[in-house]
Amino acid sequence: MVKVITAENAGFCFGVKRAVETVYEEAKKQQPVYTFGPIIHNDVVVRDLEKKGVRVIHSVEEAAKLTSGTVIIRSHGVSKETLEALKANTAIHVVDATCPFVQRIHDVIAEQSAAGRKIVIIGNKGHAEVEGHIGWSSRGAEVIETEEEARAFTCAPEEPLCVVAQTTFNAKKFEELVAILNERGYNKYVMNTICNATSIRQEEARRIASAVDIMIVIGGKNSSNSAKLFDICSKECDNTFFIETREDLELHLTGSETVGITAGASTPNIIIEEVQSYVRT
Ligand code: F3S
Repeated sequence: MVKVITAENAGFCFGVKRAVETVYEEAKKQQPVYTFGPIIHNDVVVRDLEKKGVRVIHSVEEAAKLTSGTVIIRSHGVSKETLEALKANTAIHVVDATCPFVQRIHDVIAEQSAAGRKIVIIGNKGHAEVEGHIGWSSRGAEVIETEEEARAFTCAPEEPLCVVAQTTFNAKKFEELVAILNERGYNKYVMNTICNATSIRQEEARRIASAVDIMIVIGGKNSSNSAKLFDICSKECDNTFFIETREDLELHLTGSETVGITAGASTPNIIIEEVQSYVRT
């Protein structure tokens, strides 16, 4: 019989759960409801919300044209400018579902940039969360994603730095990049803002992947935290699959395998359960 090990920390994290629940609640209260960008990187949830009348808008220009309704900011958060632009349309009600852990980073960036520190964000360039962070600095921010970028980074020796991380960044890589900056002896205030939900999920995935024959990572193709889980698991287990739903999976099991399952932060429980029962039968 196939042995299945499902990660306890698979699926929605606290912040995503909170944001998704907020959308469902708002949709029950009144219409129309919009989310500013897809609420999570999962088509199943986005389509289900569409059926409940929730539409996705993508820009402040679109929001400015709305004449009524509620606009919900997702857990990733937005820049200060975007938040202010959304609130400028008084015909709509803005509900901010930014995760409190992301909010804390916005606050640190606002405070530290105002205190004269140059902001360095260790994260993925272009990621919505990182873009939001940049927008809370009063003096811009530098994003460092790779070792080469950390080595190429320069600033005046007397300029103090504040270094923070994208919440879903790989913890080991963060330490490596900070170590490179340490070599220069900058005056730095480093705050490891990687969310626990991510490191706990990553560690558990690594542990399970190292002990199974087949590892399955469930997550949206555009979800960076799911891609990172896949990356971590692939290093431990050669038979690692990255799927979005149970339909993407075709396993030919002999029955003696041990199969591990984990899922990114945007994966609803229902999909994890479907994959579990497919593997078991
Ligand atoms: Fe928040 Fe951490 Fe999730 S920052 S959105 S609880 S990954």
